[in-house]
Amino acid sequence: PKTYTQILVEKRGEKNNVGFIQLNRRKSLNALCEELMLELSHALDEYEKDKNVGAIVITGIGKAFAAGADIKEMEGLDFTKVYGGDFLSNWTHITKITKPIIAAVNGFALGGGCELAMMCDIIYAGEKASFGQPEIILGTIPGAGGTQRLPRVVGKSMAMEMCLTGDRVNAQQALQAGLVSKVLPDEQLVDEAVKTAEKIASYSKVATSMCKEAINTAYETSSERMVSTLKETFTRNDRREGMSAFVAKRKPEFTDS
Ligand code: CAA
Repeated sequence: PKTYTQILVEKRGEKNNVGFIQLNRRKSLNALCEELMLELSHALDEYEKDKNVGAIVITGIGKAFAAGADIKEMEGLDFTKVYGGDFLSNWTHITKITKPIIAAVNGFALGGGCELAMMCDIIYAGEKASFGQPEIILGTIPGAGGTQRLPRVVGKSMAMEMCLTGDRVNAQQALQAGLVSKVLPDEQLVDEAVKTAEKIASYSKVATSMCKEAINTAYETSSERMVSTLKETFTRNDRREGMSAFVAKRKPEFTDS
């Protein structure tokens, strides 16, 4: 297995079916440098391939989930380099992962860090979490979803306010706005995220992936695709097994087929 230097990776849950990733650049508040993003993509791909893993949890070490793209790395870039090169090229890789991903936001989720959390499927916040798109303070704009995903989630006014002022919102405000689904005491955050991931991992992986795809479709294009994905589940054994088991009042035995 590959050795990582920017992230910590281990399987969690009673059945080892949760892929756990902790961003591990404590000194720079988990700023998302290129190396970290490459490692994250690699680790996600490994979990995607792992037949035992049914859901993934991403969190950060220390007082940040992630303080954004690495400003020290970006500082010297110019337009030719960011336009022609592979700048941010692997950033959306996470959206290609079909297994459900939970972001356990333990602290600052700023700029690309907030966008990374929004590319996950469920966001839990610790009490100390805060969210923001401070790019405007740096003379730039959010580039990985802040201008697209954020307004869809929190509405136009709040998204505009966050992106145009760079002000942060705290965990409670994020909950109120629907950006996160739960706020948890800091010391319980990761355990609760893993518990939810375990529950998701106990279901048919084809059904959870299709469900994720169908919901994400609501955030992208038309709702027609949702119906066709629902129909697609009817080509799978697990849909039949799940419904048969319900009707027979027994536990389903999914075969991921
Ligand atoms: N990139 C690189 N280094 C960063 C960083 C980042 N995004 N965020 C923090 N750091 C570094 C700091 O430079 C500092 O390093 P040194 O010890 O070498 O000085 C270290 O992490 C600790 O940071 P602070 O001393 O600033 O800690 P603080 O507690 O006083 O402040 C903070 C915390 C409010 C999060 C502050 O660090 C901050 O504002 N960081 C920048 C946040 C930001 O602007 N993010 C958006 C980046 S742009 C982006 O993400 C583009 C995109 O859409 C893809």
